[in-house]
Amino acid sequence: MAINHPNFGAVAEDRVFIFDTTLRDGEQSPGFSMNLDEKLRMAEALADLGVDVIEAGFPIASQGDFQSVQRIAETIKGPVIAGLARSGREDIARAGEAIRAAERKRIHTFISTSPLHMKYKLRMEPEAVLEAVSRSVTFARGYTDDVEWSAEDGSRTEPDFLCRCVEAAILAGATTINIPDTVGYALPEDINRIFTMLLERVPGADSVILSTHCHNDLGLAVANTLAAVRGGARQIECTINGIGERAGNAALEEVVMAIRTRQDQIGHTNEIKTPNILRTSKLLATITGFDVQPNKAIVGRNAFAHESGIHQDGVLKNAATYEIMTPESVGWQKTSLVMGKHSGRAAFRDKLRVLGYGEIGDNQLNDAFRRFKDLADRKKLVYDDDIIALVDDEVVRDQSRIKFVSLEVRSGSQIQPRAKLELEVDGVVKAAEAHGDGPVDATFNAIHTIFPHDAELRLFTVGAVTEGTDAQARCGVRLEEGGKLVDGQGADTDTIVAAARAYVHALNKLLFKRARTEPVALTA
Ligand code: KIV
Ligand code: ZN
Repeated sequence: MAINHPNFGAVAEDRVFIFDTTLRDGEQSPGFSMNLDEKLRMAEALADLGVDVIEAGFPIASQGDFQSVQRIAETIKGPVIAGLARSGREDIARAGEAIRAAERKRIHTFISTSPLHMKYKLRMEPEAVLEAVSRSVTFARGYTDDVEWSAEDGSRTEPDFLCRCVEAAILAGATTINIPDTVGYALPEDINRIFTMLLERVPGADSVILSTHCHNDLGLAVANTLAAVRGGARQIECTINGIGERAGNAALEEVVMAIRTRQDQIGHTNEIKTPNILRTSKLLATITGFDVQPNKAIVGRNAFAHESGIHQDGVLKNAATYEIMTPESVGWQKTSLVMGKHSGRAAFRDKLRVLGYGEIGDNQLNDAFRRFKDLADRKKLVYDDDIIALVDDEVVRDQSRIKFVSLEVRSGSQIQPRAKLELEVDGVVKAAEAHGDGPVDATFNAIHTIFPHDAELRLFTVGAVTEGTDAQARCGVRLEEGGKLVDGQGADTDTIVAAARAYVHALNKLLFKRARTEPVALTA
């Protein structure tokens, strides 16, 4: 039977929909929390990437989650905006309210269906769960015609019961049925069998979009996702860089490029603008402070780097000898060395356009250009990655209450490290000097003097954006206050300045988190 979906209309046989859950499943994993502005920026990037559905959050989880789903629903045009809800009326009503303003909206409601989850987590009998499926989907349909129902721990659910639940959800009006491999336990053949079974046994299964949602606990999320598609799934739930609960979710970039590169075997199409993949991946890394590993497929620094002489020779003669897709097809630039200290504003703007920053505002452009000139003065070679790190940093910081102004550090083997720092706090420049056990410690102490706080430093990381001794450093800072964790990051050719920027970024995130629970204005 043909699928006629309330938001997508008549669905072509070979179409597969990309449902991105970076802002929900991804964001709820430790260290990956984002504030409202960061979520909006990510949502814009996902819309530019061409995803079909953005799962913007879990509105009942907190006031902050509700607000971000609401803002994304109000602002982002193009993709369907989904809000997650458990099966209770309060959850669903909250999700319905949060997505209300969206051009195209969806409620995604779920309940566990495996024996283990029903007995120990829900403490519910299967018949009560079945009843909750019908009730929750019917209630969600009161808010939107586009309702997705998920069988949490679906891959470990008893097959007959799974079929009954799916049938109940379809009868109640679900238009997408999602079968998650919640704990990343299934093998590709298990997943394939589930989808084939649903299409064979459940009346109406061919009139809705079947969806797959695979976790990566055994490193099989992408393989399982592809097995689901081959079994009949027409929606793929995934995240940028594969972030998500525990070992993460299926990585969008990997699934999409596998489908595209192996058209001969998979034969499905989607609307992802693959040249935007790298940008989106890097934006997420900048916002969260977590880079992908160098050998990460598609978006890792080494994904298209050929080190061995034999490979280099082959690639120069014909790139197809060692490249199964072109670097440009996912956003890598052919030439990575292009800008220097003599480059002007027009060239910089053009470079940003090529790197996918078409929409950057004039003020942000000016600030980014100033920082680029400063960088070009200090660093001989300015690579695309340097510019991406710098501009993303600028955009992410634009809304911050505390801004880095300047830093002077004295350190060495014979002197006690000392830092002289200036920060702008709510528009007022403040200065402080402090000692420390090392230059980073002195800098963090100076930040503390200007902006006293009780947050504890939990993690400090240093990495390089590009290669060489003049590479920009990218530092990460994790702060904890009252059980809340935030991660900040900063990039600069000077490692201590990068550390200061990372600390300030983390503090800004903390202020944002505090403001969610304390509506009164905070002072330093
Ligand atoms: O992994 C899972 O089961 C989920 C559901 C809420 C869809 O994330
Ligand atoms: Zn999940």
